[in-house]
Amino acid sequence: MLKINWWKKLSGVVKISGSKNAALPIIWACLLLRGKIILNNMPKIKDVETFLDIISEIWAKYSWKENSLSLDTKNLKSNKLNYEKIKKVRASIFLLSPILLYFWNINIPFPGWCNIGKRPIDSHLNSLKSIGFDYKYVWENIEISWKLEEWDKIINSGFSVSATENSLIANVLRKWKTILKNVAIEPHVMNLVDLLRKAWADIKIRYSHEIIIKWVEKLSSDFEFDIVSDYIESGTFMVLWALASEKYLDIKNARIWDLYSFIKKLEESGVKTENLWWDTLRVYRCENIKAVDIQTNIFPGFPTDLQSSFAILQTQANGMSKVHEVLFEWRLNWFVELEKMWVKLALLNPHEAIIFWPNKLVPAVVNSWDLRAGMAMVIAWLITEWETSVTQIQYIYRWYEDFVEKLQNLWADIEDTSQPMTHIL
Ligand code: EPU
Repeated sequence: MLKINWWKKLSGVVKISGSKNAALPIIWACLLLRGKIILNNMPKIKDVETFLDIISEIWAKYSWKENSLSLDTKNLKSNKLNYEKIKKVRASIFLLSPILLYFWNINIPFPGWCNIGKRPIDSHLNSLKSIGFDYKYVWENIEISWKLEEWDKIINSGFSVSATENSLIANVLRKWKTILKNVAIEPHVMNLVDLLRKAWADIKIRYSHEIIIKWVEKLSSDFEFDIVSDYIESGTFMVLWALASEKYLDIKNARIWDLYSFIKKLEESGVKTENLWWDTLRVYRCENIKAVDIQTNIFPGFPTDLQSSFAILQTQANGMSKVHEVLFEWRLNWFVELEKMWVKLALLNPHEAIIFWPNKLVPAVVNSWDLRAGMAMVIAWLITEWETSVTQIQYIYRWYEDFVEKLQNLWADIEDTSQPMTHIL
């Protein structure tokens, strides 16, 4: 449980960590490189630890030096993967291809639904099927086998982040040419493309959400690569700064250009920002927040993963604002926690809600529904004028590196009172 005491105004500088949504597919992709790679700016978070644990069982070796992760995937052995561990991290189910490249057939649990809504994998299965995978449903599992087809292929990725990542990894060593249509171009997908290119993959990107992959016989290794900083963590801190800083706060590695749509909405709300020097953004405290409507979208639109943080800003606006969550049908469910804090709102349907005004947040014990909503609750507590607490914080630990320490360094009065074991999922 997290306890946040009397609201204090924050000051200082924060440095954004490496992106977990980039880190996970990049670790998977390194299984193809068959050699040594150093991944810098790697976030030390639970999901990364679990991934490393999974791949060490097939003889990948790794070691840490601060946030640099050295991986050696030279002598992989096809021992059985630990599916219990795979089940713990949803992202591993979304990244079937590197597993299939080693095992040729697998039986995995269907990912099912999660706290933010249905998580369909039809785009994944259809794109893998078009290059020779065969799959069938066996009870609650999917059984997949693979006989790689060596023809030119056109694959529809349906703008899905993980389906695009899956197809990149599956096709980069496949003979002949692959054209991926409707690809996601989120910064973490581009980071994966950069890694594969650095390993001599032949990948071209067209302006129309299209990627062309030409066969290369072998990928190279023995290089260093930087994981991109997490634009979602950066946007989350921007909201916090606007609401809780003494005067202003600076964000290093802010990913300013990746957050263009988001920063425009902040500015429309009256929040002043200033680009200082290379990728450092100063965000000023804002006393008069204007009501602004948001609609989430695929990149470069307003990110769904920042909808919950922005909603906290909307609770403090001097007018009525609307949230339209386009991508996930349960991602507004966490609004029940806002209601516990006496926020006046109306859920119009699973995708749309209205936040009324004025709102003064009152303390309550709230749950973190998913990691993003959990972090939004932390922002809410930090601007509440009494002691508040939150449970189920393991979600936040899974993806936000050192978030309690980072906030303590900015003079936030925040304490984690849980036993260390409760963070292990
Ligand atoms: N979709 C389909 N069919 C599919 C796959 C997706 O209809 O086969 C739909 C989804 O229902 C959703 C939309 O496509 O409406 C986008 O889903 P996408 O596949 O892009 O999401 P994802 O790859 O499962 C990643 C991130 C999420 C992030 C989304 C959207 C990872 C590990 N996860 O999920 O991250 O919300 O992209 O940007 O990269 C988070 O970080 O909090 C998080 C949930």
